Amino acid sequence: MWWDGAVRPDGPSLTARVVAANRATLERPAAPTGDPAADERLCAALAEGYEGDYKDVSRWVAARTRFFDAEVRDALAWGVPQVVILGAGYDGRALRFRTPGVRFFEVDHPNTQGDKRARLEALPADVEGIAFVAHDLSAGGLDGALADAGHTADRPTLFLAEGLLRYLPEPTVHELFAVAAERSAPGSVFALTLSTREADAVVTDSQRAEESFLADLGEDVLTVPSRATGLRWLDAAGWTVTDVEDVDTGQTVPGESRLLVRATPTP
Ligand SMILES: C[S@@+](CC[C@H](N)C(=O)[O-])C[C@H]1O[C@@H](n2cnc3c(N)ncnc32)[C@H](O)[C@@H]1O
Repeated sequence: MWWDGAVRPDGPSLTARVVAANRATLERPAAPTGDPAADERLCAALAEGYEGDYKDVSRWVAARTRFFDAEVRDALAWGVPQVVILGAGYDGRALRFRTPGVRFFEVDHPNTQGDKRARLEALPADVEGIAFVAHDLSAGGLDGALADAGHTADRPTLFLAEGLLRYLPEPTVHELFAVAAERSAPGSVFALTLSTREADAVVTDSQRAEESFLADLGEDVLTVPSRATGLRWLDAAGWTVTDVEDVDTGQTVPGESRLLVRATPTP
């Protein structure tokens, strides 16, 4: 297998690598001042040897890539000065959409971010305009980590949380929603993916096997609320949900969904 010997529970995220490998095949927009070639080289390096031997996430990754790219493009068009990418993994949007005057903050666990930074250095890629925040979200302290990295709460921010929340303990999801809301000046936007599962969903053996495989790699699936609960958590943290898209991934079972959600701070 592609990942044999390459991943350990204390190593970089396998799921982040699978997403990057899938992104390598997509046609994508970029900012006029961005460096899409660096992002493409990063994805291509991560895709080396990958033959879709994990599970078919291509439809899900294509849909969410389109959604998050559009959110970044829209935000840059109206002049957002800060983009915070939570659980950034190997997301190369900070390169692809680099724009003078815009600060990108990439927050990820040190194990994955260390590997990404080494890969960017090896490419090499210019990381001007990117603040790397090596932070284990489950340890708490996101507010301080962002403040220390230079994020300011009095200017608008585009927050992204793509493919992240289900790997966090529930209290960490609440903290993340609350901190993002508290650090969101008017005009800010929160774009996120939300995996949901209703109480009566029939979880298949292959899903159980996948989740136990991920747990062995240190990427346990920890938080999958029902749709109503997940959206209520956002509301309670100070977010007004403006759009919800239900993606047909070709993988979900009845009672489960993969949502693309856009929210703005509740005035
Ligand atoms: C499925 S990957 C998605 C990566 C990226 N957002 C993307 O879509 O390409 C999940 C990411 O969440 C990060 N992550 C998971 N648990 C974390 C934690 N406790 N603290 C920080 N990052 C975490 C992983 O390191 C990984 O990069």
